[in-house]
Amino acid sequence: MDASRQLHRLVTGYQVSQAVHVAASLGLSDLLADGPKTAAELAEATGADPGSLTRLMRALVTVGLYVSDGERFANTELGDAFRIDAPRSVAGWARAVGRQHHWQAYASLEHSIRTGENAFEAVHGEPVWAYFAKHPDEQTIFAAAMTDLSRAVADAVVEAYDFGRFGTVVDVGGGRGMLLAAVLSGYPSVNGVLFDQSDVVAGAHELLSAAGVAQRCRVVGGSFFDAVPEGGDAYLLKSVIHDWPDAESVEILRTCRRSMPGHGRLLLVEQLLDESPDPVRTAFSDLTMLVMAGGQERTTDEYRSLLATAGFDLTSTAATGSDVFILEAALAPGRNP
Ligand SMILES: C[S@@+](CC[C@H](N)C(=O)[O-])C[C@H]1O[C@@H](n2cnc3c(N)ncnc32)[C@H](O)[C@@H]1O
Repeated sequence: MDASRQLHRLVTGYQVSQAVHVAASLGLSDLLADGPKTAAELAEATGADPGSLTRLMRALVTVGLYVSDGERFANTELGDAFRIDAPRSVAGWARAVGRQHHWQAYASLEHSIRTGENAFEAVHGEPVWAYFAKHPDEQTIFAAAMTDLSRAVADAVVEAYDFGRFGTVVDVGGGRGMLLAAVLSGYPSVNGVLFDQSDVVAGAHELLSAAGVAQRCRVVGGSFFDAVPEGGDAYLLKSVIHDWPDAESVEILRTCRRSMPGHGRLLLVEQLLDESPDPVRTAFSDLTMLVMAGGQERTTDEYRSLLATAGFDLTSTAATGSDVFILEAALAPGRNP
């Protein structure tokens, strides 16, 4: 492909994202799970305009999501993996990133690059977490997307690290509890505490019950800028610190430190810029953090120094074989919270 064509693809990549978002939003891969369908059948099932849906399907065929025999459309391997119930599905994430609030913030990427400011806040007038608190439907879509992303890596995280040495694991900013449920399922002797904002953990019971771990898991609502539950042997934070700039990250880590016993361990589950098995994903996730939350992806050294500022020593880094790593930290000797 010549440079001009390649550049054209890069320039119009946003159109592909939006088309894929609509596919997820309408559940097209789910509708095709039990066999090929015509665009008219898909339009009827989704209530969409038949002509426009035909044009969408034609576009999605060109990027490999579906195939067509000229009359009916079917899932490709990629399209099948895009079902909402497929293992490691990113359909929930596609639904979330296509929402207007996300899209509008990303449209102001240039603002973030020119000023260093969080575009979401510039566009919507408040941080993303405050926005979600006022828009419960969007909160639910985001929480479901995070649950999907966590489900995709949960087994790898549980296998890569021995959680069995802990009596109680506190999942700080644990969303609806997907990762904690996997930890508790993998280690029957461990108890859990799921901690997140009250309106988020309010929706956690169904998932914890379905995983059969609700009896071993306490659910606590609150803010990690105030206090986190006491008494954990490990404090797990997955995809939390990358949401925040350094100053707020240190505050969150210090809040955890105040609740931790001397033998406690802090476990950060994050992508690493210097080790990523998928550098494109991590580099763009870094931009997403800038635009959406004012946070950033970091290198191992950047995490080490952030942890040191908050009074922790980085003790080990475990690869999981997925996109995330487990950074284990212990309280630095001789430091007061
Ligand atoms: C990117 S999500 C990660 C969720 C989960 N750990 C996962 O990986 O699936 C960040 C989480 O931080 C939570 N959060 C944001 N501000 C918070 C606060 N002040 N106190 C507690 N949790 C907060 C959000 O509600 C959200 O669930």
